[in-house]
Amino acid sequence: MRKVEFLDTTLRDGEQTPGVNFSVKEKVAIAKQLEKWGIASIEAGFPAASPDSFEAVCQISKAMTTTAVSGLARSVKSDIDACYEALKDAKYPQCHVFIATSPIHREYKLKKTKEEILDIIKEHVTYARSKFDVVEFSPEDATRTELNYLLEVVQTAVDAGATYINIPDTVGFTTPEEFGNIFKYLIENVTSDHEIIFSPHCHDDLGMATANTLEAIKNGAGRVEGTVNGIGERAGNVALEEVAVALNIREEYYQATSDIVLNETVNTSELISRFSGIPIPKNKAVVGGNAFSHESGIHQDGVLKNPLTYEIITPELVGVKHNSLPLGKLSGRHAFVEKLKELELAFEETEIKPLFSKFKKLADKKTEITDADIRALVAGTEIENPEGFHFGDLKLKSNADETVTAEVIMVNADGEEVEVLADGKGSVEAVYNAVDKFFNQKVRLLSYTIDAVTDGIDSQARVSVSVENSDSGTIFNASGIDFDVLKAGAIAYVNANALVQKENAGEIGKSVSFRDVPTND
Ligand code: KIV
Ligand code: ZN
Repeated sequence: MRKVEFLDTTLRDGEQTPGVNFSVKEKVAIAKQLEKWGIASIEAGFPAASPDSFEAVCQISKAMTTTAVSGLARSVKSDIDACYEALKDAKYPQCHVFIATSPIHREYKLKKTKEEILDIIKEHVTYARSKFDVVEFSPEDATRTELNYLLEVVQTAVDAGATYINIPDTVGFTTPEEFGNIFKYLIENVTSDHEIIFSPHCHDDLGMATANTLEAIKNGAGRVEGTVNGIGERAGNVALEEVAVALNIREEYYQATSDIVLNETVNTSELISRFSGIPIPKNKAVVGGNAFSHESGIHQDGVLKNPLTYEIITPELVGVKHNSLPLGKLSGRHAFVEKLKELELAFEETEIKPLFSKFKKLADKKTEITDADIRALVAGTEIENPEGFHFGDLKLKSNADETVTAEVIMVNADGEEVEVLADGKGSVEAVYNAVDKFFNQKVRLLSYTIDAVTDGIDSQARVSVSVENSDSGTIFNASGIDFDVLKAGAIAYVNANALVQKENAGEIGKSVSFRDVPTND
């Protein structure tokens, strides 16, 4: 049985998802959870892209004890130098050098010949190897590169010292059979006097990322790259939890295993969902809310007789916990904090007081507080604007002309209140107009989604929004949780506006992807 390593790029490729802007603190918390999940290497960022990305790679390097930390670099010496500086404190540093190789990228983006690209690879992989023991090389858009040229590219990188060869399906173009054949061909034909580990890096544009990744494993890949929950630009990257669980369930077929600690899967997935502001679809494989519910009568009958009739993945395998310590109206602060610990929810000491008071308010309205409610309470942590204001309350009045007037109360840490009034054609519009008035900045609402945290009429509501800062073009995701759906929506919009205001005040940097910077200079 072969062991397949996992490289997680949630903090680099995953952060290229519109609206996802992890703070440095969030990135460190995510990296710690990824280490606990059994990830062998974390691609922590693209240090040359922005001071924030550099800082995140530095801090993650210091925080990791067993997991390797990698930085992305274009085939540019200053990018490799930035990786070297950012990864100075990493126990196991890695540098990931890439350049595009497909005809369309060569002609239109790079304006370079095949030979020129081979020279660039040789020069920069050699340079990276002078600074790092472990260098990964990626031919971007590999799956649209001529196969014989791809072999030359890979051989050049290997001869220059790369030990990991990553084959990106950058635009999610390939199919399982075709991708498997690429791996077979390269592994059979690349020559080296030392071990070379090949990895797939699949995007999901045609919905085949998991199948493609697994086929690469079947054909000899020794490492896989992807993100948690499959986040990433466009249709995203391969979801690592799907690959890990598929390897576990179909171990015999793939003849491969991984070091992923499967019962940390749900915790990992929920943390990414919380920090990315991207809800997990109910029908998502492995971690979706419906993955373990059996609606139809026939299924229920079978599952009750023997769960294996319809359930190939047990909830326990991926860490779905049963309510072992139910909370209610009479639960005190101690029981509440114990529950936060039991659910392994990361929280700061200063957050306990506001979280507990939210819990008490909820317990007044709901008899049974489930684990999902507690997770939602933590996920719904409110973001203050730079002046320390957050959402306080709202009141609505219906007018004779069918418009609605909203009064939104914003409150700061000293209890100072600011009231804003605005009209709208409906309740949401009125509330959002009032929030706009408070913030007085240019923001465009891109999406608004309502979800229920639990079953039942007494469920808390979760509203997720995406907004664009019209001045910078940055997109921010934010969510709000409340028993009242309109208040949840107000909190989400206030949180999103607070992020925009922080960006305008220079308190948070814009996340910069390698696609935002010139390819090769
Ligand atoms: O998708 C891609 O090509 C990438 C490379 C930088 C590896 O993310
Ligand atoms: Zn990618």
